[in-house]
Amino acid sequence: MNYDTDQGAAIYSPLVLKLYDWWVLGISNRYAWQCSTRAVLLPFFRRHLGDRHLDVGVGTGFYPARASLPQSARLTLLDLNPVSLHAAQRRVMRRSTQVVRHDVMNPLPGRVGKNMDSISLFYLLHCLPGTMTDKGKVFGHLKAHLAPDGVLYGATILGDEAGHNAFGRKLMAIYNRKGIFGNQHDTREGLALALKHHFAKVDIRVEGKVALFEAREPVA
Ligand SMILES: C[S@@+](CC[C@H](N)C(=O)[O-])C[C@H]1O[C@@H](n2cnc3c(N)ncnc32)[C@H](O)[C@@H]1O
Repeated sequence: MNYDTDQGAAIYSPLVLKLYDWWVLGISNRYAWQCSTRAVLLPFFRRHLGDRHLDVGVGTGFYPARASLPQSARLTLLDLNPVSLHAAQRRVMRRSTQVVRHDVMNPLPGRVGKNMDSISLFYLLHCLPGTMTDKGKVFGHLKAHLAPDGVLYGATILGDEAGHNAFGRKLMAIYNRKGIFGNQHDTREGLALALKHHFAKVDIRVEGKVALFEAREPVA
């Protein structure tokens, strides 16, 4: 099935990005999704970061900018929204950064390297429309760019099944109605199935209402 993927990206205007870190990484992560940016998500981002890294769905570039990348690292930023790409590129302050404007629901262009040591997708899957099976196509597109010993990892807010608190339910209802999120039916099991379709080794843990996943050994 074909979905309109623009809505999950179009919201990130310059004004929204100015407020993003405060509202999403600060308030919402703490009080709605109960998964701390500083205590959980940023350390998770750093832990799996390799020398050749692709960040997909960059937002404001908070994670790669705070990851203390070594000088030798080669960073690629990929996003559908040029405003996000511009903001993230400025924030990471690395001349060598490759920037790719692309819809991750489609196979990636050849200029994105095929040998990434790590690929991150933080808070991207819950922005995509469709079922977890539809979203799983993303893993198929990304695994083609992962080194044989590389890791694909990320975080996504789970759907209604996670049992959100009142604040979370309010945000879920508004964001899903507006198409900013498409995650009402996203489950940990669905995510595990979609990942296992593409990777031999999959690990998922849930922190608050957020699934943190890592996947290795792409299968053909
Ligand atoms: C919620 S933000 C996440 C930002 C950051 N990774 C974080 O965790 O704070 C989602 C990002 O994914 C991008 N995005 C949404 N749909 C996309 C798609 N189909 N292809 C590529 N990027 C997409 C948006 O433009 C936005 O920059």
